[in-house]
Amino acid sequence: MSSIKAVEWVDGKLVLLDQTQIPVEEKYLHLSEVDAIIDAIKRLVVRGAPAIGVAGAYGVVIALDEAERKKLSREEVERSIDALRDARPTAVNLAWAVDRVRKVVSQGRDAVLAEAHQIAKEDRLSGDAMGAIGADWLTNHLGAKPLTLLTHCNTGSLATTSIGTALGVVRTMHERGLVKEVYADETRPLLQGSRLTAWELEKSAIPYRILPDGAATMAILSGRIDAALIGADRIARNGDSANKIGSVAVALACHEAGIPFLVVAPESTVDRSKRDGSEIHIEIRKDEEITHFKGLQVAPLGAKTFNPAFDVTPSKYISAVITEQRAYEIAKGEQL
Ligand code: MRU
Repeated sequence: MSSIKAVEWVDGKLVLLDQTQIPVEEKYLHLSEVDAIIDAIKRLVVRGAPAIGVAGAYGVVIALDEAERKKLSREEVERSIDALRDARPTAVNLAWAVDRVRKVVSQGRDAVLAEAHQIAKEDRLSGDAMGAIGADWLTNHLGAKPLTLLTHCNTGSLATTSIGTALGVVRTMHERGLVKEVYADETRPLLQGSRLTAWELEKSAIPYRILPDGAATMAILSGRIDAALIGADRIARNGDSANKIGSVAVALACHEAGIPFLVVAPESTVDRSKRDGSEIHIEIRKDEEITHFKGLQVAPLGAKTFNPAFDVTPSKYISAVITEQRAYEIAKGEQL
């Protein structure tokens, strides 16, 4: 069990570890207004599909408490819950969790809080199951020997309420003595790999190195990597998986090198209403994330940008999707 608490409900407030400040500072925000939660989700104070789902679920409780305090109308509450649900569009967990708790609003605030706690609990438990299923899959396919694993973005305790998804598998492999080293892609432009994944690996004393995203294909094609693991923000029923921008390049390189490429995510990330990846809405983020770095101008003023937060890896490049229930053998044509 990890000691990192990215999202927690404490004394009627939503407490978020401010991930924009990691690894320099461990600062917590105590939020009691929906607008502040929406802002935190948009700014990536809290991020990672399962974690924003849990934050969204507790956000509905905050919306009800705020409505009580400020004597808001039913319509105003509905509008703020809608805005919370839509704060980020690609990770299905946010809309899924908000919709789930919304169903019990008619039963009162305590029922909503109980449902939010239940979502957090299910997420917490899913990490251990994914860790075990993913580690077993790797051992069955590559043998019980220490492996060099590559990962992209951050999929650990910072992105969930558990040990994580892809990084949870890495942690389980480490506990079994099966990790030689982890290659953590830095993950441009917001550096979830070098800032967050490296921070988690450092805390857990798991051997790692960070690399620029552009070096990942070279690392894979040169034979340095045994398998790559990523998380997901939304998985269509044919297995196409949206994840942090740069993921598909890793998948293509793994395909070329003939090594496993695993997507690890809870069932709550599977969106069976989407036939394939072409139906997944990809969030486009603002220019400044590329034209500036921590306030410093790094591109000509007025430069146009292309800044998608996510890409979609076609299922044909995915060896298996690991959830808390099972390993879906996508490479063998299985659907979710
Ligand atoms: O923009 P982010 O940092 O929220 O993107 C997160 C990812 O892409 C993760 O890989 C994904 O949400 C899975 S987290 C277990």
